[in-house]
Amino acid sequence: MTENYKPKVIGFLCNWCSYAGADVAGTSRMKYPPNIRIIRVPCSGRVDPLFVLKCFQNGADGVLISGCHPGDCHYTDGNYHARRRFALLRDFLDYLGIDKKRLRVEWVSASEGQRFAEMVSDFTAELTKLGPRSKV
Ligand code: FES
Repeated sequence: MTENYKPKVIGFLCNWCSYAGADVAGTSRMKYPPNIRIIRVPCSGRVDPLFVLKCFQNGADGVLISGCHPGDCHYTDGNYHARRRFALLRDFLDYLGIDKKRLRVEWVSASEGQRFAEMVSDFTAELTKLGPRSKV
């Protein structure tokens, strides 16, 4: 049943670093699974936990939030807020019956196209291993 399973991944990428990193991966023709749907946000700190829950509610198998490395946020401390916020949300996901491995927070700079491609590949492989998610 799960051999043709392709997880749906939603990626919230900060405009200044991670989105540019994804762009580098694309323009450099690096291979990574096409399962991710990217939503560009001004900063990882802009991602409301409700966005993540809405993604899961609407059938996403995994959600990735990616921003500038700590200390590099263009709005000073947006990524510190995101890091704290999503550490709490991961525990809450367990409470909702959603495996916390389905939510990832990663830092990717504008020059790390390779890292972005590897991160998406790794996350997709992990979600494939977890299998389809039952609806909330
Ligand atoms: S601007 Fe990139 S995480 Fe804040």
